[in-house]
Amino acid sequence: MKRINKEYENIYKEFEENSEFKKLSENIHHGLTRLEHVNRVARWSFIASKVLKLDTKSVTRGALLHDFFTNEDINRENYNEFLKEHPLIALENSKKHFEINEIEEDIISKHMYPLTKKKPKYKESILVSLIDKVASCYEALRFQTATAVGITILFLYNIR
Ligand SMILES: [Fe+2]
Ligand SMILES: [Fe+2]
Repeated sequence: MKRINKEYENIYKEFEENSEFKKLSENIHHGLTRLEHVNRVARWSFIASKVLKLDTKSVTRGALLHDFFTNEDINRENYNEFLKEHPLIALENSKKHFEINEIEEDIISKHMYPLTKKKPKYKESILVSLIDKVASCYEALRFQTATAVGITILFLYNIR
């Protein structure tokens, strides 16, 4: 486990030192920060890629960058469009701040498949797309349900 953690930390180091990437810690996403979300997707993808003997480094880097956008990038007028568009915004930001390979590019740009029309080209991209969906459900249930319950309790307390 220690060796696995060390390997993950080594990949993560480059991102941790990037001031633009650090901004993800200021934005809320599924009830937690976007930095926590991309780290969860990257950690789970990292472990799954080991089991499946895929390209672990590309999987982890692609997963860390799959939602690399800040709240200023979000189109609030048309959130449905944004759901489809944000992989390309994340890709643009990734290219601006990091050197990325073809697999990482595919992971980032296709992670919302089937909302994005083009199919993921690599097993690594399919893996991150699936794990992003599982992690997002987990986060919404765990963090946003808690928020919802908290708000309901406050509401009931107020009307009693
Ligand atoms: Fe996303
Ligand atoms: Fe995501």
